[in-house]
Amino acid sequence: MEFSVKSGNSDKQRSACIVFGVFESRRLSAPAEQFDQANGGLLSGLIGNGDMEGRAGQTLLLPTPELPCERVLLVGCGPADKFNDNAYRRAMAAMAKALADTGAAEAVSYLSDLEVKGRDAAWRVREGLLAVSDALYRFERLKSKKNDRPRALQSLAFAFTAPPGAAAEEAIRIGRAIAAGVSLAKDLGNLPPNICTPSYLAEQAEALAKEYGKLTTEVLSRPQMEELGMGALLAVARGSREEPKLIVMRYQGGGNTKPIALVGKGITFDTGGISIKPAQGMDEMKFDMCGAASVLGTMRAIAELELPLNVVGIVPATENMPGGAATKPGDIVTSMSGQTIEILNTDAEGRLILCDALTYSRRFEPETVVDIATLTGACVIALGHLVHGLMGNDDGLVHELLAAGEVTGDRAWQLPLYEEYKEALESNFADVANVGDRAAGTITAAGFLSRFTEGVRWAHLDIAGTAWKSGKEKGATGRPVPLLTQFLLERAGRG
Ligand code: BES
Ligand code: MN
Ligand code: ZN
Repeated sequence: MEFSVKSGNSDKQRSACIVFGVFESRRLSAPAEQFDQANGGLLSGLIGNGDMEGRAGQTLLLPTPELPCERVLLVGCGPADKFNDNAYRRAMAAMAKALADTGAAEAVSYLSDLEVKGRDAAWRVREGLLAVSDALYRFERLKSKKNDRPRALQSLAFAFTAPPGAAAEEAIRIGRAIAAGVSLAKDLGNLPPNICTPSYLAEQAEALAKEYGKLTTEVLSRPQMEELGMGALLAVARGSREEPKLIVMRYQGGGNTKPIALVGKGITFDTGGISIKPAQGMDEMKFDMCGAASVLGTMRAIAELELPLNVVGIVPATENMPGGAATKPGDIVTSMSGQTIEILNTDAEGRLILCDALTYSRRFEPETVVDIATLTGACVIALGHLVHGLMGNDDGLVHELLAAGEVTGDRAWQLPLYEEYKEALESNFADVANVGDRAAGTITAAGFLSRFTEGVRWAHLDIAGTAWKSGKEKGATGRPVPLLTQFLLERAGRG
């Protein structure tokens, strides 16, 4: 898909389709008004019949063969006074879906010209681009019959009645990079667990390094992990026939400044291990590598943008399977940090692979570490599917991440990480247990991780509720690539 920025009067645009917003009830937006007046009240006449009330998400396609544009698409935007970030993204998504159903290969949209409180033209272009790519994303590579449309939409211009300035052009570049990262994260998440294995993830990370000059990838295999003493990560891998991989991606755009480390949970399938999960919905545990996918996606986005930063992406990748050699509840292992862990529940495996990856990240002397993981079902209960759970040991960092979430709509919400919560993980036999009781499961999981990040500025994103959708729309969301990329853009002074 090609995206561009365009400016000029709305009645002069030559296009296969021109898109206008309509507010509730039947109120034409300013560019629509301009078009309407130049064309003898064409739009106001047509919407008088009740076909377009302007309700959020509503669309109406009008063929206009006698005009310089072949069609007009009207998109309902809801009440004008409630046209906020979310309503804007919804309008863009509704537009994209409606355009995909037309024969138009190209379109000019004046939705980007609509005022959104507190947001400039650059934000509207970038978020419009992201909403459109999100809505048009399909995962069809494993269907034998491709759902091909006669003439799918190939290019979209974000139009403005007055020139929006150079920042809007730059917004296309940023939006495109984030969209590419999101799309990679979605693809990796959606791939089935028999294809997207730890080795596959490693190959994809190597392929990224081939594509971008500033990116290198190193993959550690089992003997190297043994050498490093990664007893916790290896304990999870024991039950599987797939080889575990520790993937280390280094993006070097920041000279000799200290890097930011991103650590992503890469469980390519989580059966629960010996503490096996119920059958219902277990297929969705293929998404248990979405933290890893978000790290690869974010590495792609920042490499695409050539940000002046150093970033290390670390992905511990393994399956969690109940093989004959699998770890048993009650087993005690020694982590790379030296701390011993009593594994009381083999289904709490995410924290086991992450703790060794977090310890490993120290060798890069990171300025900041952020880990991303589909870590706890409890997070879904607490926060649902809207926001990521966020905890950390540094308020400044937590606030940076919260702010990045607000800008991109890829929001997080902080949960408290008081020391007292960590008492739940006391073990009679080892330094720490890998689970507590059911209370505050998201926080005690983060509390476990915090034991491995002492003295490091660290935050943890629990994306169990946000990384994928279930039901009819089942599929990976690509989150939190937008949040992470925005956070890094801010760090690079390009926010
Ligand atoms: N991958 C799961 C967490 C999960 C569950 C994410 C459902 C999304 C939806 C994780 O490995 C897990 O199994 N966690 C356990 C922890 C428990 C044993 C303390 C959980 O949440 O039940
Ligand atoms: Mn699990
Ligand atoms: Zn898991």
